[in-house]
Formats: sequence, structure tokens, C-alpha cells
Amino acid sequence: MSVLDAIGDTPLIRLTRITAGLTAEVHLKAEFLNPGGSVKDRAALAMVQAAEQSGELRSGGVIVEGTSGNTGVGLAMIAAQCGYRALVVVPDKSSEEKIKTLRAYGAQVVITTGGVTREDPRHVSQVAARLAAETPGGWLAGQYDNPANPGAHLATTGPEIWRQTGHRVTHFVAGVGTGGTISGAGAFLRSAGRVTVVGADPENSVYGGGDGSPYYVESIGHYVHPDTAEDVWPQSYHREIVHRIERVSDRESIEMTRRLAREEGILVGASTGTAVVAALRVAGELGPESVVVVLAPDSGRAYLSKYFDDGWLRRAGFPAPAAPGPLVADAPVTAPLLVPATSRVRDLPATGPAEVAVLVLPRSDRPISDPAPGDVIGSVPLEALRGASPDAPLTAYAQPPLPPVGTAEPAAEALARTPADAGRLAVLTDGRITGVVPRAALAALTRLAPAASNATGSRH
Ligand SMILES: Cc1ncc(COP(=O)(O)O)c(C=O)c1O
Repeated sequence: MSVLDAIGDTPLIRLTRITAGLTAEVHLKAEFLNPGGSVKDRAALAMVQAAEQSGELRSGGVIVEGTSGNTGVGLAMIAAQCGYRALVVVPDKSSEEKIKTLRAYGAQVVITTGGVTREDPRHVSQVAARLAAETPGGWLAGQYDNPANPGAHLATTGPEIWRQTGHRVTHFVAGVGTGGTISGAGAFLRSAGRVTVVGADPENSVYGGGDGSPYYVESIGHYVHPDTAEDVWPQSYHREIVHRIERVSDRESIEMTRRLAREEGILVGASTGTAVVAALRVAGELGPESVVVVLAPDSGRAYLSKYFDDGWLRRAGFPAPAAPGPLVADAPVTAPLLVPATSRVRDLPATGPAEVAVLVLPRSDRPISDPAPGDVIGSVPLEALRGASPDAPLTAYAQPPLPPVGTAEPAAEALARTPADAGRLAVLTDGRITGVVPRAALAALTRLAPAASNATGSRH
């Protein structure tokens, strides 16, 4: 048996504690038990096998993919076993752990600029396509549009769930990233047994009707960069397979992810949390004859310093065990003045308590409310506008975005990690900017020396 034979045939684990009060059965398809650590091993293997069969990938060839996630790991593992080289392009925001995992399998990692539109030649998928074309023997896996990705789940994941439930499954719930999992497994289960297919989607993702603004759960949903000319959905996502989409907030997903570890003993990533929130909503509408299967794509090991870390939660403003005070929220936090980044000086309110405007990338005609830090491009202290022409664009006066701090973060910690010369800080609640606080007010709270006298902070 090779490591590739260990891909698939993952167990189905019944959830017993977080399902208290529900009569429907809820089972978790434990994809984190694949040898590369995620559901993506299946798609990676199927894509490689299809390319070998078609002759696109030949002996001594180079497997190329643009991803910071689990598909790169699956491909790197398969490349190692089969004697190919793997070249994985990742955005510069990727965690050190992810890059080290790829290198551990012997993959060559190319780091490119993150946060750019898909059309930009620096975007991961553009760089990956170029490198695949330029590298002798190069083959681009292309999970977003490769039919072997949903094909893997049509051939394996769906039939396994059907068999493991003794044909009793009535509902299948999964997150949608490339869409390969839900499209392939969903198609099989719909044709086998009229199973209802439910997508679990981050609230802001466009799949479920959000505006495409940033969210915290990784690897699922569809984010749209505000400068994107044309938003293209992956061909691996066959939306006609999905009966219904449940939209789940970051907070709900993160809380459920933590509960799964503490109450069920199952350590999974936040995309599983999203899917389980959706599954419990669905199960709540059903009776004892129903069997809900929810797919758990990866392990929580990769996220120990994020969703499982109390400090990370507090810094992003998510609920966490109480920290010793005083807290940021104990300072005089005021409502932020949020304005579209395209505004001119005359668009600002003539009066009001705000001392600084937060420039937010506009996405729709809807008024801007509680943006994520990723949508903020700068800040304008209103005192800097004295004498400015009413026609001047605010961006002409923009300074860097206000450093974010969490609402329930200890004031001393917020002070220690923000630059001493930052006049004001953005206050986050549930990962969104909900307030502005003068940094000096935090210093006053902690009775520390004035911020300027311990000027060790650096801008980050
Ligand atoms: C952790 C995690 N969850 C969910 C998904 C989504 O799966 P799919 O791309 O099949 O829609 C992925 C895919 O990369 C993933 O890595």
C-alpha cells in the first residue's frame, strides 16, 4: 500500500453532544484524516491521474498550482510519491507554517503579492499559469476549473457517504471553495437518493448573496476584490447541484470550531465550523428519520495560532475568555466615520464628533457599515483638511489605516503592539471596525507613561 492508497475511505463520526435537543442524526465526514491532512488529497490525486492519462503530465514533469491551501499540500505529497517536482505559488500573506509544510514535502514555493485582482499578472493563479507554461514538463493542476476536481468527489466522496449511511443520508452539507466537493459529492447523492444538498457559506461571500467583502474563515466562499473587472466563478462549482445555501457569520463559525474541539473532541479548521453551523440549522428543522452528513475538510492543527488562540480572538474582537482589564472597551471609544475611498473633501459631514475619517473601498451602492480591516485603504485626520479644496479627493490626504485593536483586548497589550506614533486606533468587534479610540486614552487607562516616551513600536 502506498500513501496514495490511504486517500479516501475516511470515517463517518456521529456528533453526539453539540446536537443535544435535536432528533435528526448528524454525522461528520472526517476528511482531515486523509494522509495530506485534508479533503483536497482526493482532488489532487484525481487531477494528477487524469493528467497522466491525457499525457499532459509525463514522467519527470513538474506539477504547478497557485494556492496557499490544502490543494498544494496534496499535490506536493503526490509529487513526492510519484517522482514529480511540485512548484506551488502562494500569496505573501500565507502563514509560515503553510509554506514550511509545502517545503517539508520537497515542493518549491514561489511567493507572490497577495491582495491583488485576479486579472493582475501578480495574482497567484496568473503567476502559476505563467510558470507552468514556461517550465519544461510543467503542468498546471488548475483546481478551480479542472473537471477532475468535482469528478473525484463524484467517484469517491459521494459513494462513500451513501454506503456508510446504509443509503439513509437525507441531507449533505459542505462549504464551497472551488465547489469541487459539493458539486461532485452532491451530484452523486442527488442521483442516488434524492439527498438535499446544502452549501455553507461565509456571510460576506458572493456564493450565498454577500457583497464579496473580506471574511475570516479560510478556504471557502468567494471573495471579490473591489477592483475586479469581471467576477468569474470557478467551473468546478456547479451551482445547480445546490438546493440551498446557509450563510454563516465569522463569529458563529469560530465559536462552533472551538466547541467541536472542546465538546466533541474533534479538532478541525474553521470551514468545518461553518459547515456544522449550517448542518445544525438544517437538522433543527428535521425529525428522527433524517440523516445529515456534514463534511469536515481539514484539521485544526493548522490554525492553532488563530481560532484556537485566545489572544488572536481578542485582537480581532471575537468572543474569548475574559482577560484582566482594563480593556480597550473601557476607554472612550467613538463611532467611526466611514467614508467611501472615492470621496472628496466636500462629501464629509460639516459637523460631528469624529476627528478622523476611515477610507473604505466601496463595493455597492449600499451605505458602508462595519467594514473588515481588509477593505480599509487609509485614514484622514480631519484637522489635516483645514484649508483643503472641497473638490480635493480624500485620498490626497490619506495616511495609513488606523492600527486595529480588539474591543475586549487588554489596553496594555493593545498599546504594546501598536506603533507609538499612531494617534488613533480602529476598534474591532467580531472582526469588523466598530469604533475609533485615541491611543493616548488607552495609555491613560493603564497609567503608563505617555505613548511617545516608549517609542519602540514599529508600523505593521
Ligand atoms: C479547509 C478547506 N475547506 C473547504 C474547502 C472547499 O472545498 P472545495 O474546493 O472542494 O469547494 C477547501 C478547499 O480548498 C479547504 O481547504
